[in-house]
Parts: sequence; structure tokens; C-alpha cells
Amino acid sequence: MRTYGCQMNEHDSERIAGLLEADGMEAASSMDEADVIVLNTCCIRENADNKLYAHLGDLKARKADNPDLQIAVAGCLAQKDRDLIREKARHVDVVFGTHNVHRAADLLAEARARGPIVEILEETVREDMESFPTSLQARRESDYAAWMTIQVGCDNNCAFCIVPAVRGPEISRNFDTLVAEAEDLARQGVTEITLLGQNVNSYGRDLQLARRQAGEDVRVRPMFADLLRSVGAVDGIRRVWYTSPHPKDLREDVLAAMVETNAVCEQLHFPLQSGSDRVLALMHRGYTAERFLEKVHMARATIPDLAVSTDIIVGFPGETEDDFAATLEVAAAAEFDNAFTFVYSPRPGTEAAQMVDQFVDPELVKDRFARLRVVIERSIRQKHAARVGRTEEIVVFGPSKRDPEVMSGRTRQHKLVHFASDQPLKPGTLATAVITGSGMQYLKGDLVEVLARPTHKKRIPVVSV
Ligand code: SAH
Ligand code: SF4
Ligand code: F3S
Repeated sequence: MRTYGCQMNEHDSERIAGLLEADGMEAASSMDEADVIVLNTCCIRENADNKLYAHLGDLKARKADNPDLQIAVAGCLAQKDRDLIREKARHVDVVFGTHNVHRAADLLAEARARGPIVEILEETVREDMESFPTSLQARRESDYAAWMTIQVGCDNNCAFCIVPAVRGPEISRNFDTLVAEAEDLARQGVTEITLLGQNVNSYGRDLQLARRQAGEDVRVRPMFADLLRSVGAVDGIRRVWYTSPHPKDLREDVLAAMVETNAVCEQLHFPLQSGSDRVLALMHRGYTAERFLEKVHMARATIPDLAVSTDIIVGFPGETEDDFAATLEVAAAAEFDNAFTFVYSPRPGTEAAQMVDQFVDPELVKDRFARLRVVIERSIRQKHAARVGRTEEIVVFGPSKRDPEVMSGRTRQHKLVHFASDQPLKPGTLATAVITGSGMQYLKGDLVEVLARPTHKKRIPVVSV
């Protein structure tokens, strides 16, 4: 499995891997050993497209050497490019999209019997989604942390974004099913859950609407706050994260649920996109810079020690120097703990891609991008430095890549810590460390004490014969 793109795609890959294992396959330890290669793709920016086609080019020789090798292309780029994938790369055996992930094993079998298949569905069928639970068939990459997709698709229409076109309209998964899955995961020893959706704040509104249309006397409202409380209350779940909320839809009930539910971590990803009201309106984001900052302040006032991260796009069509100056100002005022910054990339079929005469000169964009990074990195460093001397609660994910004697983990603010430990600590260990130093990318520290050892059971792969 090779995965591109966001966490939702990574989780889809776990589910595809789970289905293939249930079908009798085993994970290969390298490309050379693989009989089946699945590329789960992304198309959010143009370089994601380019990366995939370059990778497919590399696989051509592999297929020529081993004609039995099956190559499948799944995910968002497959949903967008459909037949084009096989037109550009005849050696691909199966193309499937975002609405038929559950068909992975069947499609590979069909292609083996009858030749190449391109199967792209137009929409997710609710029943297919519900009959494909996260906890049962996923081959999780981590024993102690799990992802749960709580909704698929997106009903917003941000002018730059291709996600609604490739992921379809927003559909929430059933509330009780999600809570039962969290309980099931906890029984397997999972202690951390990340709730995934494109606009998690509106989770459940469609479910309530459907009940109302069926004649029930319910108020049509989002149920994300309730979901946070219920998942956070599951015995054994120590940390709950979520991504992404939309600033226009973040309400006080969600902040209250965060602060009142111990398991929900003090971290909020809050995508700004631009600090200019004019650009925000062109993007159809549904908030102003002032409103955005008000919500950031409200969130920080409600949740002690909250870390706030963001996404910002530089060079949206028509962005002027004044617009960009406003982005710098808002970014400075928001004092982000972290930020993903992107150069605008036109995506076929999106509204902004048609504003060709207003595309910003790439040299200007490069310059603005560098100036934005200066502001962002200043606040990241300050936020990190402010933690020196404190004792932090850390969940360990393993030894540091650079130094196997040093352990790495994350705090409840999602900050990466490398810390010295006199004993090796297994992934999932809960420990405290005192912070002794800080930089741009991480904090440094020393182990104070181990609070809890992981209890997850090692999975024994079961292969049906
Ligand atoms: N649903 C999430 C966004 C998912 S895409 C949300 O609304 O927050 C992740 C990020 O990619 C977006 O927040 C945006 O900053 C960036 N992005 C999306 N489309 C882009 C494009 N065409 N060019 C550059 N960046 C883009
Ligand atoms: Fe894209 Fe906007 Fe939906 Fe996020 S909220 S996935 S940026 S359309
Ligand atoms: Fe990419 Fe699809 Fe995620 S386009 S960012 S993999 S929703």
C-alpha cells in the first residue's frame, strides 16, 4: 500500500489493507516482494497529481518483469481522473474511487479473472459505508491509536477546493455505531482516537434532518459536541483528537465539550486560509478575519493551554499585496502553534481555477510564501520556548529516528517531544517528561516517570485458507 494525501486517505488505506488481509493476502515487507500494489491517491494540489503519475511510470518496468503483479490505483485522484489513469498507464489493472473502497478485494479478483477494470461510482451509498465498520476490518498501523471516519464528503464550496468533487456530499455515520466502535477499539487496548471528517463541526446535522423528515420531533442541529462527549467517555480512551473543523461552524457547545471531557486533547486545528476579508469572501469561507480571531480567542479562553494550528493558502487568484498583508497580520495576531502553508494550486472544475486572468505571478507568490513562513515560525518557536521547564504528559510512539536511545512522543497539545529515558518505552506508554529545550520542529526533555504501560494485545494475523 502506498498512501498519498490526508489522514482520511491513510485511514482508507488501513481499511483497504484490512479487506485484502481478510481475503487471504499478507502485507509485503517491500515493493520487491509484493504481488499486489495499491496506490491510494490524492489530488488536492497539482504536485499530488504529478507525484502519482511519476510513481506509476516507475512501476511500468516492475510490471514488465513480473506480469503477474497487480497494480491498483484508488482514492481521490482515481475518482477525478478515472479512465485517464489507464490511458496514461496501461499497466494499471484496477482503478477504483472514493465511493467503493469496500470493493477493493472483489475488484482485484475480477481483474485477475477478466482483465483490467475501472470502477468509479458517483456517490457513497450510506448502506455500504455502514456495512464497512472502521474497527473490524482495518489493519491498523498503530496498536494504541486509531482513526475513526465520522463523516464522508463535504457540503461546502470553497472556491479553491476539489474535495467535494471527489469525495461527494457530506454523509455522517450513525452515532451509536461510532460509539460502539470506540468501545470496541478500547477493548482491543486502543487508548487514542482521532475523529476524521472534512467539516466535523457539522457532524450529525444530516442524521437529525433525516429523522425530522421521517416525522420525528427532533431539532435539526449538529451532534459533534455530543459525539466528543460520548467517545471521550468510553472507558480506556485516554486521548481524543479531531480534524478538521470549519471556523464558520465552530460553536460554543463544541468548546464546552472539549473542556468538560478530560480525554479530548487541548488541540484545535483551525484553517484560516486567508486573513483578507475580500479573499475570504471570494473563497466562500463564510467568516471574516475578525470573526476568525474572535473564535480563536474564545477557544483559548474556554480551554486552558489550548494549542491552535491552521492551514493558509498563499496566492489565491487576485490576492493583492494588501490582501497578503492582512494574512500576515491575522497570522501574527492568532499566534499559531503550528501551520501548514500552501501555494495556491488551480484544480480542474473548481471555481477559482477559472479565474485565470487573476492568477498571481509565481515569483510574487514565492516571496509572499517566504514572508509568511517567517511570521509562522516566529510564533511556533515562541510557543515551544514557553514550554521549557514544564512537565508534560506524553504518549510515546517509539524511539527517535535520529537516536534510538531517545524516545519520541506527543503532548496533549500535539507537540513532538524527544526525551532521554533510562529505559526503552513501548509505543503507547503514557509518561511524563520535563522539557529542557525547544526548537522549530520539536521539544527536548528528560523522562520523569512512567504513568501507564500499554495494554493493547498484539494482533495475530489470521489468514483464511
Ligand atoms: N476540509 C479541510 C481541508 C482539507 S484540504 C478543511 O476545510 O479544513 C487541506 C488543506 O489544503 C486546506 O485547508 C487548504 O489550505 C489546502 N488546499 C486545498 N485546496 C488547495 C488548493 N487548490 N491549492 C492550495 N492549497 C489547497
Ligand atoms: Fe474543501 Fe472547504 Fe470542504 Fe474543506 S470545507 S474540504 S476546504 S470545500
Ligand atoms: Fe487529498 Fe482526497 Fe485527502 S484530495 S487531501 S486525499 S480528501
